Amino acid sequence: MQKIKTALFGTGFVGRVHLEGIRRVGFVDLCAIGEPQIEKARALADEFGVPKAEADYRRVLEDKEIQAVHVCTPNFLHFPIAKEALQAGKHVICEKPLATSVAEAQELVALATSLNRRNCTFHNLRYYPMVQHMRRMREAGELGDILVVQGTYSQDWLLYDTDYNWRIESKQNGRSRCLADIGSHWCDMAEHVTGQRITTLCADIQTFHKTRKKPKGPIETFAGKTLRPEDYEEIPIDTEDFGGVVFRMGERTRGVFTASQVASGRKNGLSIEIYGTKCGVAWNQERPDELWIGNRNSPNQLIIKDPSLMQPAARSYADLPGGHSEGYDDTFKQVFRRFYRSIQDPAAAPEYPQFADGLRQLTILDAEFESNENRAWVDVPEFKG
Ligand SMILES: NC(=O)c1ccc[n+]([C@@H]2O[C@H](COP(=O)([O-])OP(=O)(O)OC[C@H]3O[C@@H](n4cnc5c(N)ncnc54)[C@H](O)[C@@H]3O)[C@@H](O)[C@H]2O)c1
Repeated sequence: MQKIKTALFGTGFVGRVHLEGIRRVGFVDLCAIGEPQIEKARALADEFGVPKAEADYRRVLEDKEIQAVHVCTPNFLHFPIAKEALQAGKHVICEKPLATSVAEAQELVALATSLNRRNCTFHNLRYYPMVQHMRRMREAGELGDILVVQGTYSQDWLLYDTDYNWRIESKQNGRSRCLADIGSHWCDMAEHVTGQRITTLCADIQTFHKTRKKPKGPIETFAGKTLRPEDYEEIPIDTEDFGGVVFRMGERTRGVFTASQVASGRKNGLSIEIYGTKCGVAWNQERPDELWIGNRNSPNQLIIKDPSLMQPAARSYADLPGGHSEGYDDTFKQVFRRFYRSIQDPAAAPEYPQFADGLRQLTILDAEFESNENRAWVDVPEFKG
């Protein structure tokens, strides 16, 4: 069978993880890179044997042989690039957030549907093996009725006012930074694992640094160095450092989470705890192979990822035997494998988050901002796209 030809747009932090992940799917060929930093793109193409690197992604879209693209650029480019890619007949995997507004996301959902293209918003964190195990425990009724969902996604990489990145600026990032960047992963996981939707919420959003020191030169130049006053300019900040959200999932289930990029010492601290009428489960991204199960009348358990002991429906998300860790970059392989299988087999169900899931997260974000502005509870609407 012929391999599926694909392309990668954006080769920063996550673009490289996509590249390596694509290489792990045997029936897919990465044929081109689109990246304006062309020297960097060429070096990467050489290193990984990718035949073509273009500064302008549009040149890549013109190639009729390329069937799919990965959009790994700063957020404000997701909508225009994903739209052009769909119009060029490509299947699209787009990094989160899918777009910078609900209206844009709705347009992408509608376009992908009308053109019958496979589409994925990259909420990959659902696909850690132990997250899938929790989901299948819930489906099997082992948690009982869910009473409370709680947790956080906390990082510290933007703690200081000298920390800078394109995400700081709403022009490149969109209105929401912390809640869109990491809070959306938490909400996606909470809804995926519980099988319930956040129906109403109350949010408190804070920008601790009202101004930040933006380096005058390329940010990489200053990485790890102490900035001198002449190296930066002080600019006002219009994206948030922190969000705290209380929410309801329907009539009975209650929840609360925080998202923070200024939590000293927390590097990539996503934790989620789900308390049901039969037991509780707790999972932490920095110890991904472990799952805590809390019992009222028997000893608590700490189970270690082992496919032979996992819920049968979760086993296909673990490729290695027990005791062999599987982490962040393995979630990429799990999504890609299922996405590309669904291109090969038009009858295959999409076992990955789609553009509709990206739209869902933008809808939640809108409700969070409305709630914060009005100091009020806000219902989260259901959009069909
Ligand atoms: N799913 C995840 O776990 C995860 C993790 C990190 C980042 N992300 C998402 O991935 C996206 C990229 O984040 P990052 O941390 O890799 O950023 P980054 O700054 O490290 O990389 C962005 C890259 O896009 C390139 N780029 C800019 N304009 C472009 C264009 N017109 N065409 C092609 N490439 C272009 C830049 O030159 C840069 O190389 C963001 O939307 C972010 O939310 C997702």
